[in-house]
Amino acid sequence: MMQVPLLDLKAQYAQIRDEILAAVSEVLKSQCCIGGPKVAELEEKTATISDCRFAVGASSGTDAMLNSLMSLDIGPGDEVITTPFTFFATVGCIARVGAKPVFVDIDPRTYNINPNLVEQVITERTRAVMPVHLFGQMADMDPIMGIAGRHDLAVIEDAAQSITSTYKGRKAGSIGTVGCFSFFPSKNLGAVGDAGMIVANDEDLYNRLKIMRNHGANPKYYHKFVGGNFRLDPIQAAVLLVKLPHLDDWSEARRRNAAFYDERFAGTVVKTPYISADCVSVYNQYVIRVPKRDELVTYMKEKGIGCAIYYPVPMHLQECFKHLDYKPGDFPEAEKAAREVLAIPIYPELTDEMKKHVADTIMGFVS
Ligand SMILES: Cc1ncc(COP(=O)(O)O)c(C=O)c1O
Repeated sequence: MMQVPLLDLKAQYAQIRDEILAAVSEVLKSQCCIGGPKVAELEEKTATISDCRFAVGASSGTDAMLNSLMSLDIGPGDEVITTPFTFFATVGCIARVGAKPVFVDIDPRTYNINPNLVEQVITERTRAVMPVHLFGQMADMDPIMGIAGRHDLAVIEDAAQSITSTYKGRKAGSIGTVGCFSFFPSKNLGAVGDAGMIVANDEDLYNRLKIMRNHGANPKYYHKFVGGNFRLDPIQAAVLLVKLPHLDDWSEARRRNAAFYDERFAGTVVKTPYISADCVSVYNQYVIRVPKRDELVTYMKEKGIGCAIYYPVPMHLQECFKHLDYKPGDFPEAEKAAREVLAIPIYPELTDEMKKHVADTIMGFVS
């Protein structure tokens, strides 16, 4: 029986193994174990591919967001508006700085925050909006930036899943006050461990982000404010620099795979991803909606095909946010998405045979 995993990192590694080993070996030889030229080069290149002036490495996508919130001085008493349909980290960071997460429902087509709902939850305590560019497609940024401008709010783009994705020709991370990327291994540009990056255009903020990631020290041992250890590991930077030149080809391959599925599922009960005419998606995930989703999961697993539910429980219904007093029914689109979505294999190295097998299996179940 043909096995198709949700993601096959070994297939990617096989193509670039020698370069990765050489790059890691170079860092080891140099014994430049913190910061150094690899981190600086990755920062410069990430800023360039994101059409931003500055980039600051981070120990993870989570720490990129935590550093951003701390550097924007967001904390107790402040509110941050975001989506309930995201990975936990987005909301976890807001809570960790002591601010209050305030949710609005999603656009059911894109799964991203619905900008039409943002203005009505703004209070005098609101400090920022945190749109998430989910599954590889950017949120509807123009109305969000309009609202942020009118109310003097920061915009923190959670671009963890959407590096190099575009909205009206503008890159993920380049529109808001800051953009945060994750290099978690399953991302389009993935490290061999945890890593992340912040991009920004404001020089003062850039300087603050750099100081914050080093415990707020400037100069060393003189602490202007309380920061953290949010530093990007040079071995991860070296690996990412080997992968970076492949990123556009890999994203293109994901788009080709998506086009294949789009065609196969057209006119069936399988709802394929909706990509706005304003956006170019990098398809970090290809997410379908199907009736009897949970039974399909069991069926696909039996047939040796990987799939995953991103995300089964919206953030407003998480136990740790009980004190926020949200209840089932508050965000019906996010709750419906949580019941219906399913991510299927989309990684660049999928063969035509594998894609066909995935599509045939799903069609065999639904028809
Ligand atoms: C939408 C989103 N935000 C934030 C993160 C956090 O990134 P990391 O795992 O690198 O901390 C992730 C990925 O895991 C993510 O998918």
